[in-house]
Amino acid sequence: MWRPPQRIKWKPAPGRWPTREEAVNSRLFSPVNVGRLHLESRTWVPAMVPWRATEEGFVTDENLEWYERFARGRPAAIVVEATGIRDIPSGPLLRIGHDRFIPGLRDLVKTVHSASGGHTRLLIQIIDFLAVRRRPDPEKFFARYLEIMPWHRERLGAEKWSEERIRKRLAQLSDEELARVLETRELEALRYGYRERVTDMDLPHIRDLPRVLPDLFAQAGRRARDAGFDGVELHYAHAYTMASFLSRLNDRTDGYGGPRDHRVRLPLEVFRRVREVVGDDYTVGCRFLAEECIEGGNTVEDTAYFGVEFAHAGMDFLSLSRGGKFDDAKQPAVGWSAYPYTGPSGYECMPQYVSDERGPFGRNIEPTAAIRNAVRAAGFTTPVIVTGGIHGFEQAETLLREEQADVIGLARQSLADPDWFRKVRSGHGDEIMVCEYTNYCEALDQKHQQVTCQLWDRKGLKEPGLRRTKDGKRRLTPAIWRPEYDPDNVDPEEMSAK
Ligand SMILES: Cc1cc2nc3c(=O)[nH]c(=O)nc-3n(C[C@H](O)[C@H](O)[C@H](O)COP(=O)(O)O)c2cc1C
Ligand code: SF4
Repeated sequence: MWRPPQRIKWKPAPGRWPTREEAVNSRLFSPVNVGRLHLESRTWVPAMVPWRATEEGFVTDENLEWYERFARGRPAAIVVEATGIRDIPSGPLLRIGHDRFIPGLRDLVKTVHSASGGHTRLLIQIIDFLAVRRRPDPEKFFARYLEIMPWHRERLGAEKWSEERIRKRLAQLSDEELARVLETRELEALRYGYRERVTDMDLPHIRDLPRVLPDLFAQAGRRARDAGFDGVELHYAHAYTMASFLSRLNDRTDGYGGPRDHRVRLPLEVFRRVREVVGDDYTVGCRFLAEECIEGGNTVEDTAYFGVEFAHAGMDFLSLSRGGKFDDAKQPAVGWSAYPYTGPSGYECMPQYVSDERGPFGRNIEPTAAIRNAVRAAGFTTPVIVTGGIHGFEQAETLLREEQADVIGLARQSLADPDWFRKVRSGHGDEIMVCEYTNYCEALDQKHQQVTCQLWDRKGLKEPGLRRTKDGKRRLTPAIWRPEYDPDNVDPEEMSAK
């Protein structure tokens, strides 16, 4: 992963933990309504892909165990990982593109509701993404994948050569010569792997996205509702299709690109269609980027406008992330795909402890507050969720008191210790395993390996019946926390264990 050149090492600074009384009376543990959904506190676990689904996208026992473990910590809301809306193979990522996925997802909902004793609401993030291919072996790229075009012949001065001879010649060229002979996108396909863009208007299925996506999202929303989820989060963030429509780099000329009001058109059409299908009483919101953090990308000027448009359209919540784009991603190794969290924008999305003067904690606060202000100034009360490096009670409380956000998202901190919420609320803050923001978990995600945290994945490996990673070296969820005293604990299993 890219890191700021200043290389300043930061330590987590959670500050003082509250007593139980302070926590119970805090703003963080006060209720909030997200559309019709009542959250018992302002705590939120944002979507995180743990790489536990089957190759066909079904929910596994490992998925159930993972979300059950989060639910035991009783955050007010958990958002299930990015789940694909199409009925196409996409590896071990959850899918919701067909009714056959509903039973597994229903089990997931039941598991979370029951493990949290009814304290946690479960939403699901639904996503569309375009094709991204692995970086090819150059030999195969020139022998097979590259389509030989007139410009190759012309630039090589080889009008009369056979295709085979041209392929052989291309394979012998230096990087500089290739840069002269190949088109930009061909070079990108060679060096990074082929990647589709929403601006590839020569491809019929890309041209058609505005026609097909509203229904694909709406049917996924309907399935989420059928499975019992408490709400749906439309994934309009990071490197994926909907974020690319919103991006300032989207210059489509069909009314869905260019000026801001054109770029927001499809995201609004998708939302309206979802709303039509799931009904007015169902919670639907979106996650989008407060800043794209790439050259020429969206800044708060654009995103405050989007926030107001989304609120105006009737979204029930706005969850803000930042960065995480392909545009500045590192070159992957041959045989691997580009990963949108490896460049400077990826750093902004999941900043780690080696940082610059600003540090890794709370980089998304200011832009999120600016978007919230714009939404409030336009007369909307839509709750705004902020995420990024937040790990302490005092920090969260200050953000809420200063009205910079309405709900606090803790992604990696919940992964480091899913009991953060229960521990803080019950006055056990000093028992929290504080995230060190090392991004060990994110590196596993990058390698498509089962995500765990280095603070707990090698501890207590001899526990009977423990579920482990495929290589047997790591446990898949942290040990159960059994507090000496938690007056709110109604979990019969834990009560009997005392
Ligand atoms: C392993 C891992 C998987 C993630 N998967 C998703 C995802 O599916 N959807 C999403 O919107 N963000 C995803 N994120 C980003 C987080 O939701 C969050 O925005 C980011 O980690 C910054 O918040 P934090 O500092 O509290 O961790 C993921 C993060 C991690 C570490
Ligand atoms: S591995 Fe654990 S400590 Fe490190 S960043 Fe991830 S959650 Fe935090």
